[in-house]
Amino acid sequence: MADQYFSEQPGSASDPVAFRLEIGGVALDLTTDAGVFARGRLDKGTRVLLQHAPEPADGDLLDLGCGYGPIALWLAAQRPASTVWALDVNDRALDLVRSNATAARLTNVRACRPDEVPGDVRFAQMWSNPPIRAGKAVLHELLLRWLPRVDGASYLVVSKNLGSDSLARWLAEQGYPTSRLSSHAGFRVLEVS
Ligand SMILES: C[S@@+](CC[C@H](N)C(=O)[O-])C[C@H]1O[C@@H](n2cnc3c(N)ncnc32)[C@H](O)[C@@H]1O
Repeated sequence: MADQYFSEQPGSASDPVAFRLEIGGVALDLTTDAGVFARGRLDKGTRVLLQHAPEPADGDLLDLGCGYGPIALWLAAQRPASTVWALDVNDRALDLVRSNATAARLTNVRACRPDEVPGDVRFAQMWSNPPIRAGKAVLHELLLRWLPRVDGASYLVVSKNLGSDSLARWLAEQGYPTSRLSSHAGFRVLEVS
């Protein structure tokens, strides 16, 4: 678990597994790996987000905590004229995003570490299955770092058991009104404005 959430360079040996993501008319063959979140599968929460969030916007889009890239690549496939910024601290995850984008012929994805995003880039939307298990302090700091750079709405998927409702309340207290867009299979999709 720690490798998937906190590692910059996972210690586990590489052991790639591919699978096909098919949601909303988009089909992508994606390679995943050990040491990266949700190896060999689409996370249940991520599926709920992609199935229940609204249409992606045009412009620069942010996938905060991209893992091997299911959200970023799905957005990029639907919005070829948009640039999708796929951010993670895990180098193995970022390499997977780049190779998955190349395999899918998506040229509008920028996979990088958070510090590599130019300071003047602003985002039309943020989409994220955030690293909840990293702990409240880390999560809060992360959201307060990126939300001020989002001009439109942000869509976060969070398990009900892992505190989606208290996160929504905290976001509102920080000045980001947050509503529950949908609730499925124990996950909430939060819309932050
Ligand atoms: C719940 S996983 C979601 C991964 C992917 N989006 C998916 O849906 O399969 C959260 C991701 O956040 C990344 N992460 C942890 N801390 C981060 C940080 N400070 N900045 C960006 N990403 C971070 C983790 O490495 C992990 O890949």
